[in-house]
Amino acid sequence: MRHLIDRLEQNRKLTKDEWTELIAKGADREYLFERARILAKQCYGNTVYIRGLIEFTNYCRNNCYYCGIRRDNSNAMRYRLSEEEILDCCRTGYGLGFRTFVLQGGEDGFYTDEKLEKVIRSIKMRYPDCALTLSVGEKSKESYRRFFEAGADRYLLRHETASENHYRMLHPEELTLKNRKDCLWNLKEIGYQVGCGFMVGSPGQTAECLAEDMLFITELQPHMAGIGPFVPHHETPFAGETQGTAEQTLYLIGLLRLLKPNLLIPATTALGTIRADGREAGILAGANVVMPNLSPVGVRKKYELYDNKICTGDEAAECKSCLQGRIERIGYELAVDRGDPAKEPGGNYV
Ligand code: SAM
Ligand code: FES
Repeated sequence: MRHLIDRLEQNRKLTKDEWTELIAKGADREYLFERARILAKQCYGNTVYIRGLIEFTNYCRNNCYYCGIRRDNSNAMRYRLSEEEILDCCRTGYGLGFRTFVLQGGEDGFYTDEKLEKVIRSIKMRYPDCALTLSVGEKSKESYRRFFEAGADRYLLRHETASENHYRMLHPEELTLKNRKDCLWNLKEIGYQVGCGFMVGSPGQTAECLAEDMLFITELQPHMAGIGPFVPHHETPFAGETQGTAEQTLYLIGLLRLLKPNLLIPATTALGTIRADGREAGILAGANVVMPNLSPVGVRKKYELYDNKICTGDEAAECKSCLQGRIERIGYELAVDRGDPAKEPGGNYV
């Protein structure tokens, strides 16, 4: 498979058949990871960026089959943080050195555009040197524009899968791949730094689906791509399904690094959940971002997207120092700045 890995590095694209073959075989792993590390170092040196994740609501109007906080999970203990509580998380995070805050939540009708705008403005007024990322799902272009004008810099919206058929297997009818993709294009047009992404090993996913994900990422050219293994949640229709593997997730992280050398790629909590050193392995496969949790300890277990999620019992400070130790032990260091996308060696930002 080396010839395809080399071709990807040189051309930054492959055909659908080539992607499918490479992903299905998953061969020459160590070679791929070495190339991925070299490219990551050319763009980002030894640094790993850190983002403080604030899971501010687990109410959600959607019913995605894989997700533990889906609307129909009547056993989920619902919560939402107030503006004050969110600002408290930021204060703690700022003191610990975080310069990016990620506000993530279900699609919660309580947080209207007006309310979210107010939260965004308050955070940006207090912490003008910080980047603010939103991850609150599908909204109209107008809403996205309002949040941007209020000060949001980045938006994470995983496309989940770029295959129409596979999208239908993961979502109820009212959700469409077209709308998901339109949202991502709208976000890009407005000027956000945009992150897409997908789960690895979700039910029904084939190498061909993953090839389509790679083609979509080639087309969208996002600033960030978040991938993590699918992990079943016991209160969802996918409770009995098999979880994704760390091996395949790592392989795809390596491929993403070759596809876009300056891409921001998180080593996700889901990867750390299915393998004890999953996040370290993610960095060594080409990832360069970690997103420890800044949510108050009292609500963490309630933001249970999948079973056995790690880091639900630790204070933010413990999480940060644990991660810092993990990163330093593999020869990297945590960055203290906002961590915007780097220029590629050729000089391009995008
Ligand atoms: N509501 C926002 C959205 O739709 O983008 C943000 C929250 S949503 C829970 C964040 C991400 O969690 C999803 O994009 C999905 O990929 C991931 N996720 C949900 N359930 C999961 C599971 N069972 N295993 C792994 N990841 C999961
Ligand atoms: Fe949270 Fe290790 S990163 S406890």
